[in-house]
Amino acid sequence: MEIIIFSGAGISAESGIATFRDSGGLWEQHKIEEVATPEAFHKNPKLVLDFYNQRRQNIQNAVPNEAHRKIPLLESIGNVNVITQNIDDLHERAGSAQVIHLHGCITQAKSSRIDDFIEEIGYLDINVGDLAKDKSQLRPHIVWFGEPVPAMDLAIDLVKNADIMITIGSSLNVYPAASLVLETSTKCQHFVIDPNVQDLNLPENYTLIKEQASEGLNNLVQHLTNRQKKPLKSE
Ligand code: APR
Repeated sequence: MEIIIFSGAGISAESGIATFRDSGGLWEQHKIEEVATPEAFHKNPKLVLDFYNQRRQNIQNAVPNEAHRKIPLLESIGNVNVITQNIDDLHERAGSAQVIHLHGCITQAKSSRIDDFIEEIGYLDINVGDLAKDKSQLRPHIVWFGEPVPAMDLAIDLVKNADIMITIGSSLNVYPAASLVLETSTKCQHFVIDPNVQDLNLPENYTLIKEQASEGLNNLVQHLTNRQKKPLKSE
């Protein structure tokens, strides 16, 4: 059985990491065009690097929550691929082995000249003057607004082949990532976990679970793993 977890910022909310568009979210405190575009980096690299340095420290101090930790349990009933829009490493720290970061990962950095020379930096700051292996200014390996999403084709192939898809904690506002929910086949059972989901961006035939990530996923994982267990033999 092929299982896809498609996660957004909402799955990390209970770990204390701010989402983007809820009240008090990241895009209320910062302007996207000042901290999350290639033009912003070119105009004021220190402001952009400091924005991601702060996020990297917040992520280092956060711990995976129950929702992150429940996902590896699904490996007892199928092959689980996590496709996340999040740049935090909480899925990996909770034990998920197959994680695709559509929008990059905060623990990686790369050349600012070409999309290459990617390196692991853990939770170290990146400062102006830190250089990539091609001697260009080092930058976060994050997909900024207006930049291509290299892992999108792989993600679409995985979703097309999914028997179960669990979309959790995303407002489905940002494309092309949000279009993944439209790529499921008719065989796929699609669950959506979100306390305030905006169902305008969702296709038909999904099961809505209007709960927080940890509670919703806890109940769903129990349901899916119990369903898979052999039925009791009648006496
Ligand atoms: N449990 C589950 N869902 C939650 C929780 C929670 N505890 N708290 C909030 N949510 C839901 C909100 O209802 C909302 O639908 O999580 C979603 C968060 O939406 P956004 O803040 O828009 O985050 P996301 O969908 O991941 O944003 C996508 O936008 O800014 C870019 O690159 C950034 O990857 C990000 C992309």
